[in-house]
Amino acid sequence: MSQEQQKRAAAEAALKYIEEGSIVGVGTGSTVNLFIDALAGIRHLVEGAVASSQATEERLRSHNIPVVDLNSVAGLPIYIDGADEATEHRHLTKGGGGALTREKIVAAASEQFVCIIDESKLVGTLGGFPVPVEVIPMAQSYVGRQIVKLGGQPVLRDGFKTDNGNIIIDIRNLPIPDPIALEQQLNAIAGVVCNGLFAARPADVLLVADSNGARTL
Ligand code: A5P
Repeated sequence: MSQEQQKRAAAEAALKYIEEGSIVGVGTGSTVNLFIDALAGIRHLVEGAVASSQATEERLRSHNIPVVDLNSVAGLPIYIDGADEATEHRHLTKGGGGALTREKIVAAASEQFVCIIDESKLVGTLGGFPVPVEVIPMAQSYVGRQIVKLGGQPVLRDGFKTDNGNIIIDIRNLPIPDPIALEQQLNAIAGVVCNGLFAARPADVLLVADSNGARTL
């Protein structure tokens, strides 16, 4: 199976977690795009979806899947999203597409987080993929200096603005022996809106697809 086929296998395996009549939280990225395409096939069974980005909202609408505001629901039964890296502990690095803050909000509001990945994303320890941090623009230099103190190399994502109007600093070359501790340390820096480590609230289910198809971790 190609990587694209693996992404599709993971995306389609997530359909069995969708309850009839429910509202589905939907992440962002190329794997999730395949999930949205699959969800379109059963759209008559779901009430709607909460989108984690403008790109996802557009794709949902293009399939005539009703988009629901998160503030109009008391909570969500399920959130489906991809990841840039994942461990067998279901700790994740996300935000390669820059949608990390809204993704973390929708994940937090959901009872169950099902993460869908191809096998290239499964790693022993997080840190190979740079950790994205969404930052209020005026805090760019300050946050960069704090990241250096933590041992990382801050790199501004040039020319990129998040859906919330903020910047992204990608942290390179930072070993992550304790993802929960680092997630909290980054959140404690003034000017940081959110970071791409999903460890304090990890995925509940990790669907990994390899050449044999999708399996659950
Ligand atoms: C979007 O901001 C990210 O968190 C994505 O979930 C992540 O980058 C995975 O994307 P792909 O499915 O495109 O690899």
